[in-house]
Amino acid sequence: MSHVTQSYDFSDPDAAYAELARDLSALLSGERDLIANAANTAALIFDALPDLNWAGLYLYKGGELVLGPFQGKPACVRTAMGKGVCGTAAARRETVLVEDVHAFPGHIACDSASNSEIVIPLLRGPELLGVLDLDSPKLRRFGAADQRGLEALANIFVQSLG
Ligand code: SME
Repeated sequence: MSHVTQSYDFSDPDAAYAELARDLSALLSGERDLIANAANTAALIFDALPDLNWAGLYLYKGGELVLGPFQGKPACVRTAMGKGVCGTAAARRETVLVEDVHAFPGHIACDSASNSEIVIPLLRGPELLGVLDLDSPKLRRFGAADQRGLEALANIFVQSLG
C-alpha cells in the first residue's frame, strides 16, 4: 500500500472514520511489533484528524502509564492509574471524553495548547495494554462520532498485536 496519508473528509465523521479504519488495518497488517504499530497508529491519526495538537499512546507498565510513541510536543512521561484523564480512562477501562480540560479535576497539562481531550483504553480482553490519547486546542473538539471511530481504531491496533 502507499504510505502517503490521504486527506479524509470529516464533514461525514462516520464515513471518514470507516475509511481511516480501512487504512489503519492495511498499514498494520503483517506486523505485530508493539512499538512499530503504536508509532504508525499515532502518526496516521495525527495526520488525518483536523485540529489536534497531540496524539499518542501511553503503555501500561509496572502498574502505571508510561509515554509511548506519539506525535506532538514532548509530553509527561509517567501517569499513575486514576490520575489525570489518561489514568482515569485506564482505571475505569472506559473512554473519557473531556470537552474542556480546564474543568476536569486532576487534568495533567502537558501542552498548554490543549483545551479538549479524549482518552481510549487499549484492552485485550481483560488485559490493559495502555491508552490512546488525543488532545485538541479547540474546546469540545471530540464528540460521540469521534468516540465511536477512535474506539474502532484502538481495537484495530490491539488486534494487530496478535
Ligand atoms: N492530559 C493528560 C496527560 C497527557 S498529555 O495530554 C499528552 C492527562 O490528564 O492524563
